[in-house]
Amino acid sequence: MTATAADDRALQQAAPWWRPAAGQRLLIRGGARLEGRHPISGAKNAALPLVVATLLTPHLVTLRNLPASLDVAVLAGLLQRLGAGLSWSQGAQGLTLTVCADRLRPEAIDAGLVSRMRASVLLLGALLGRCGEARLPLPGGDAIGARGIDFHLDGLRAMGAVITLEQGVIAARAPQGLVGADIRLAFPSVGATENLMLAAVLARGTTTLRNAAREPEIADLARCLIAMGAVIDGLDSDTLVIEGGHALRGAQHAVMPDRIELGTLACAAAATDGELLLEGGDLSALAAAGPALQAAGVELETVAEGVLARRAPTGLQGIDFRTAPYPGFATDLQSPVMALLTRARGASAVTEAIFEQRFRHVDELRRMGARIALRGQTAWIRGVPRLTGARLLATDVRAGAALVLAALTAEGCSLLDGLDHLDRGYDGMVAKLAACGAALQRGDF
Ligand code: UD1
Repeated sequence: MTATAADDRALQQAAPWWRPAAGQRLLIRGGARLEGRHPISGAKNAALPLVVATLLTPHLVTLRNLPASLDVAVLAGLLQRLGAGLSWSQGAQGLTLTVCADRLRPEAIDAGLVSRMRASVLLLGALLGRCGEARLPLPGGDAIGARGIDFHLDGLRAMGAVITLEQGVIAARAPQGLVGADIRLAFPSVGATENLMLAAVLARGTTTLRNAAREPEIADLARCLIAMGAVIDGLDSDTLVIEGGHALRGAQHAVMPDRIELGTLACAAAATDGELLLEGGDLSALAAAGPALQAAGVELETVAEGVLARRAPTGLQGIDFRTAPYPGFATDLQSPVMALLTRARGASAVTEAIFEQRFRHVDELRRMGARIALRGQTAWIRGVPRLTGARLLATDVRAGAALVLAALTAEGCSLLDGLDHLDRGYDGMVAKLAACGAALQRGDF
């Protein structure tokens, strides 16, 4: 997934705030306590479907509080190639984007950009709904499992789309327009729920999505669609009823705060024995991960400005948990929490039940001195008194965050490669951590 110069130019044209990162490695000196205010950005996982939703109407849609992350820039590049007009501003409320999609060229998909981001598959539902056709190379993204898109394609077919796969390209057409359908997902897939919701709002008739994912980012998408004139019932439940076919109007929407950044930084505060005010964070969105973190010795307190996180006086304690669809323990927090548990008192058992290859950080943590045994989808961890710095490689967005966290607590220096992954998912992570006292520097070391 290396960025080409042409890709970089396309990104800068579409998202002028984006800069190719200076330095491909991160040098981290462990031992500093993190203290201070850490603003929580808009949620990456909410931002991506919301940006795609702007394509559903010819009228202006404005999104506030977007995170300035590489994934958002990549999606902006895709939208611009499709013919959308983009205008940006940056202020106290994060990035603001206004999209004018009055003329779309659904055939003008940028294959290079699609290959950089799995969420580009969401363009299928939106383009089919709006233009009646879409051609999309099979999307890329993190290598954390099989990550099929069969639920997406089956659902769209149930809504009347004719879809073929030709040499790695998904060709989808709905010459008569999409029609509402009764669809049961075999698993509550986040992306499939979003894709089918995006398609259903412009389909004729009613779509019922059963066993839908309930992640809060889905309700955030639904709220924006409702502001645009869509009729959607069952928000936050596992059955969404979408009465399609209403012409959508322009709207304004603020992206919800990033619950994964919140949980990760809460772990970092506790792991470094510091104290962070996670500004704008919403504790309730952590669902099962909230009490689990507290049991592990991460004190979390809701205050007027957000969430205060610090280590409990009783210290860090091993816990057992299993990832699950929302409101279960978020798989995106599995690796950062594991980094915390490597130095907790006693034993922990961490079971990954969503993605089959989401333990690629384990080898890296072991090289820092962590005691972790893998058996199937469970990692057995015995806490050690200290980790030591090492050369590390981030293999996916969340593994990258976990390794930064581990390196911040380790003795000595670590050098982290694979920073593209961090850039994809987090808005200014390095600068925000440095502002809270972390000793880290990006460069070509
Ligand atoms: C989204 C999140 C990601 C998070 C994940 C689970 C975004 C941009 N990404 O990813 O950060 O880790 O939810 O909370 O929001 N599956 C299939 N067939 C399909 C679709 C999914 O087999 O058609 C499987 C996947 O391989 C995986 C599981 O279902 O094992 C969950 O995937 P899904 O919920 O779709 O995750 P994403 O939407 O890709």
